[in-house]
Amino acid sequence: RTPIIIDCDPGHDDAIAILLAIANAEKLDLRGITTVGGNQILDKITENALKVISFVNADIPVAKGAAGPLFGKLVTGEEAHGESGMDGPLLPPSKFRPLEEGAVEFMLNIIRSSEEKITLVPMAPLTNIALLITAYPEIKERIEKISLMGGGISYGNVTSTAEFNIFVDPEAARIVFESGIPITMSGLDVTDKAAIFEDEIVALKERGPVSTMVGELLDFYSIYGKKMGYVGSALHDPCAVAWLLRPELFESEHLYVTVETEGKLTRGMTVADKRKKTDRPANVEVLVGVDREAFMKLIFDSLEKLDQE
Ligand code: BDR
Ligand code: CA
Repeated sequence: RTPIIIDCDPGHDDAIAILLAIANAEKLDLRGITTVGGNQILDKITENALKVISFVNADIPVAKGAAGPLFGKLVTGEEAHGESGMDGPLLPPSKFRPLEEGAVEFMLNIIRSSEEKITLVPMAPLTNIALLITAYPEIKERIEKISLMGGGISYGNVTSTAEFNIFVDPEAARIVFESGIPITMSGLDVTDKAAIFEDEIVALKERGPVSTMVGELLDFYSIYGKKMGYVGSALHDPCAVAWLLRPELFESEHLYVTVETEGKLTRGMTVADKRKKTDRPANVEVLVGVDREAFMKLIFDSLEKLDQE
């Protein structure tokens, strides 16, 4: 069982990623969820995280993190995720409350007190993780690896070159990418390939309560995708969890990747040495392909497990 902490900003795809982890509790030991301003403001996305775990009756600790990036103002993803950050289904109010302690303190305590090293699974701006490893650099050794959703080595989704999670806090992302902690990056190269199609969303809604709720989330989420001209709805964040469960479903390349923090056109870009010519060793396993059918089966089967509980 891999002990993990999910750092997120739910977020339609974050919600699905959380459910994927909970459904696979025999493999993943979800020790906690930390939240960070991203898709919506911190209070809203924290409430969303609590509603998601309440929906499946999973009393997982939730700790609130940074409200905004290390520098500057928060840019939200309201256009894609709506006013609540997770528009669509009418979810019952949450049964749980966030912890008193903040995200950094919470992660620190979990990591310090755990016998095994912890795997971090960030799927939002990297502010909390950057704050943690900057304040407590010695903790890096106690982190097994980071499986994150963010970036892309071919194109962006906020600008031509920057993906949302990196774009919102490039300075934090740079700290994390240059930390020396082993990183697996589910960027747009792979997550756009992990798209769910309309007929699959319809099929979800013919299943049990959790699958149906996810189908309703995706109904809303796919409106934005259609507007942007995408064929399916990319399940970005679930990739970071799915890779921990079934790495063999993914193709990857080991590359040196860092983050541009200054460029006028390229701020927030994950810059990869695809030529493999720098003297810097590869620091990131970049996922570039996925067996979409098998990935979708994993999602469907996992939600079905939760339907039956
Ligand atoms: C990422 O940005 C957010 O809107 C999603 O939740 C995902 O983490 C995709 O670019
Ligand atoms: Ca997210």
